Amino acid sequence: MKIVGLSEENERAVRQAAELLVRCFSRIPSGWHTLEEGLAEVQGSLKPGWISRVALDENGDVVGWIGAIPSYQGHVWELHPLVVRPDRQRQGIGRALVADLERLARERGVDTIFIGTDDEDGRTNLYGVDLYPDVLSWAARIEDVGGHPFAFYRKCGFVVVGLIPDANGFGKPDILMAKRVTAQRRA
Ligand SMILES: CC(C)(COP(=O)(O)OP(=O)(O)OC[C@H]1O[C@@H](n2cnc3c(N)ncnc32)[C@H](O)[C@@H]1OP(=O)(O)O)[C@@H](O)C(=O)NCCC(=O)NCCS
Repeated sequence: MKIVGLSEENERAVRQAAELLVRCFSRIPSGWHTLEEGLAEVQGSLKPGWISRVALDENGDVVGWIGAIPSYQGHVWELHPLVVRPDRQRQGIGRALVADLERLARERGVDTIFIGTDDEDGRTNLYGVDLYPDVLSWAARIEDVGGHPFAFYRKCGFVVVGLIPDANGFGKPDILMAKRVTAQRRA
């Protein structure tokens, strides 16, 4: 497996990344439901300054895709999206893609990577809950009840930094997580 930058010229990889997105997110209301939507998302990730990287297997097929969007004057990258082909999940590819992104972020002087990971289908204990007014108390008590990806990000060193209650309708929050990627604190 190798991780490389995705480019418009690599039409096969662009298409496979789009197919992967639809395959993994079409059941989620805020996901991608058609190949056209998937292609638009992948092509949108190829903007100058944005990050778009694919993990390729020995045949050159896409087994994972990660993107990042610079924000906060370049101090922060928003990780968006991350997806690993279902038959290759739990084999370390997601962790490798995140580590590769962290390396690039460090090289470019980025301090923090953050991610919003929604719970739209009841895979955390926050689903269906009225999180107000103690939103931060709920954030501190988050639990995985069905293999939600926040548990994966936690294993990669991200911490929960907040919640957007009802981000996807009542009781369906977005879980905000972040990780410092610089070696040490800088003023
Ligand atoms: C979430 C996802 C990217 C993880 O990628 P992956 O390649 O399967 O993860 P890895 O094999 O690198 O796992 C790293 C660690 O996280 C754990 N992990 C992976 N997915 C997990 C999950 N859903 N829940 C709990 N733990 C998980 C692994 O067991 C492993 O733990 P270990 O180091 O103790 O062995 C992948 O499952 C995926 O693409 N899911 C569908 C799309 C998705 O939900 N993307 C994230 C949207 S925010």
